[in-house]
Amino acid sequence: MKAQLEKIYSDAQSDIAKSTSINDLDEVRAKYLSRKGEFNEIKKNLKNLSDEDKRTVGALANEITKNLELALKAKHDEFYQTELNAKLQKERIDISLPGQFTPRGKVHPLTATTNEIVSILQSLGFSVVKNENSPEVETEYFNFDMLNIPSDHPARDVQDTFFTKLAPNVVLRSQTSGAQIHVMEEQKPPIRVISPGRVYRNENINARKNNFFHQIEGLYVDKNITFGDLKGVLNEFIRIYFGASRPTRFRSSFFPFTEPSAEVDVQCIMCGGKGCKTCSGTGWLEILGAGMVDPNVLKGVGIDPEVYTGFAFGMGVERLAMLKYAIDDIRLFFNNDVRFLKQF
Ligand code: DAH
Repeated sequence: MKAQLEKIYSDAQSDIAKSTSINDLDEVRAKYLSRKGEFNEIKKNLKNLSDEDKRTVGALANEITKNLELALKAKHDEFYQTELNAKLQKERIDISLPGQFTPRGKVHPLTATTNEIVSILQSLGFSVVKNENSPEVETEYFNFDMLNIPSDHPARDVQDTFFTKLAPNVVLRSQTSGAQIHVMEEQKPPIRVISPGRVYRNENINARKNNFFHQIEGLYVDKNITFGDLKGVLNEFIRIYFGASRPTRFRSSFFPFTEPSAEVDVQCIMCGGKGCKTCSGTGWLEILGAGMVDPNVLKGVGIDPEVYTGFAFGMGVERLAMLKYAIDDIRLFFNNDVRFLKQF
């Protein structure tokens, strides 16, 4: 039996020596050391031996098994290391290769302009209204009625409103001024809010007009608010947005929801005030409408005009962006031509 063991041992050793992979080693292990392997077959016969032989043969069998395990493990480690090295070599990363260029998007110029205007007005004490107080699909009640624009008022036509078939009196808002009503119906003075957003008008599209554009509405209602406060806030806004060197003027105007009303112009950026196509020869460009909140509007929302006064303003975001960056066609904002967009 000893001789049998020695024979299997040397067979196993030569099988290990012939192995060229971890797979081969697994096969060797199965052949000799598994439950059905050759050693186990022999061990089964141990019971037929004398006690003396059991001990010596058993000890030999154990030693051989141990040696084989060690030999297998040593070979296994060797193969593992070689296979790992080969894999690492294959997957090696060349850190000196130039990286892959990932193009980065940019903030749209209108978003950037809106953010800038909003942050200037925030620095002057205004906060942005909740989204639900500034819906784009609006009722005539908010877009017109409560802003002192009765149904037969020509202003409804002036603004070329888009009416919808969703329900009677539902429109795409033609101005952000409706946000004033939403806020005043919900909140008592002091109120100092702004509301940026998109508005829609049924216009013929050209270099100066699109059928949707963006406005930022402002409203300040409290005790003792005067036209002087309005001028102070707007002049400060314009000074920060355009820089101190750009002349501005307040011009008397009319809006149904403000009394008195004004329009604010800045000197034409294209011609520096000499008069050109962009400013229709006047040297000035209108950037916003404003005024003292009409007492009728305050009354409508249950604010006593004898106690409170307020001012409101609405500015066009495209207009302000075009003036600052000398853009001469409003349609450029919406064509999404990367060559235009990436300049900002
Ligand atoms: N809603 C006006 C428009 O779209 C702009 C405007 C004028 C807003 C005067 C105001 C305001 O808040 O006081 O033409």
